[in-house]
Amino acid sequence: MAKPRRRYNRSVSDHPAILVFDSGLGGLTVLREIVKARPDAACAYVADDAFFPYGHHTEDEIIGRVVPLIGELIAQHAPRLVVIACNTASTLVMTHLRASYTVSFVGTVPASKPAGASSKTKRVSVLGTKGTVKREYTQRLIADFGQGCDVSLVGAADLPSLAEAALRGEPVGDDAIAAEIAPCFHDGDMRTDTVVLACTHFPLLLDRLIALAPWPVNWIDPAPAIARRSAELLGPAASATAAPQPTFQFTSGRPALAHDILAPFFGMHVSA
Ligand code: DGL
Repeated sequence: MAKPRRRYNRSVSDHPAILVFDSGLGGLTVLREIVKARPDAACAYVADDAFFPYGHHTEDEIIGRVVPLIGELIAQHAPRLVVIACNTASTLVMTHLRASYTVSFVGTVPASKPAGASSKTKRVSVLGTKGTVKREYTQRLIADFGQGCDVSLVGAADLPSLAEAALRGEPVGDDAIAAEIAPCFHDGDMRTDTVVLACTHFPLLLDRLIALAPWPVNWIDPAPAIARRSAELLGPAASATAAPQPTFQFTSGRPALAHDILAPFFGMHVSA
């Protein structure tokens, strides 16, 4: 893609602007950690819910959608840093984004390295969207960093939508969640002991995943590592004063999130 690299004004405020992007509400699990790690940052959360779920789109559709959209959002928010809080997009678009725009980017990709390092049985599952587990990028990551583990790639077609429904307070049956995670669990000599949450929506369901797992495993959520990397790229905080509250934007044009959806993430300090 021979696009010219475009330059945008950088935020000059004491509160460095971070744009956190996902297809839906899953990126809130990353935003929560970023807000903890960098309370001085002014975060704008954008959900491309008009195109949700990304896991159901082709690679070309996602690249064609996300790359220009991020350009528009950079022009609108002038962030110092853009966090793509979505594995389904990050496993495809990071090279295109870095070639097109000059701001710093952090992506979210399956945490196969910490999973391989911490697994005792050396039997690991990577639970992502159908798109993420099919990606050449994901397969290469596992080949390079799987650390000799037997890694199963499990694509869960409906789990992102179930996670959003649960977050909205709609009833989501145990059977539906259990069926999506069942292929992660391999018994026998080498029992699965580690499951990588390779979709930012899945930590929204963590309590249910723990309760429905046939045996206890280590669930790996990359959000704290993404927040650490984001903080590192921003450099030292310029201000000790609290940043403005995060803002929320939806490409569908739907209204802001209800306070009772946000409260579990940010305590009572963030208004919808
Ligand atoms: N939250 C996204 C991810 O991390 C994907 C959900 C979707 O839109 O399918 O992969």
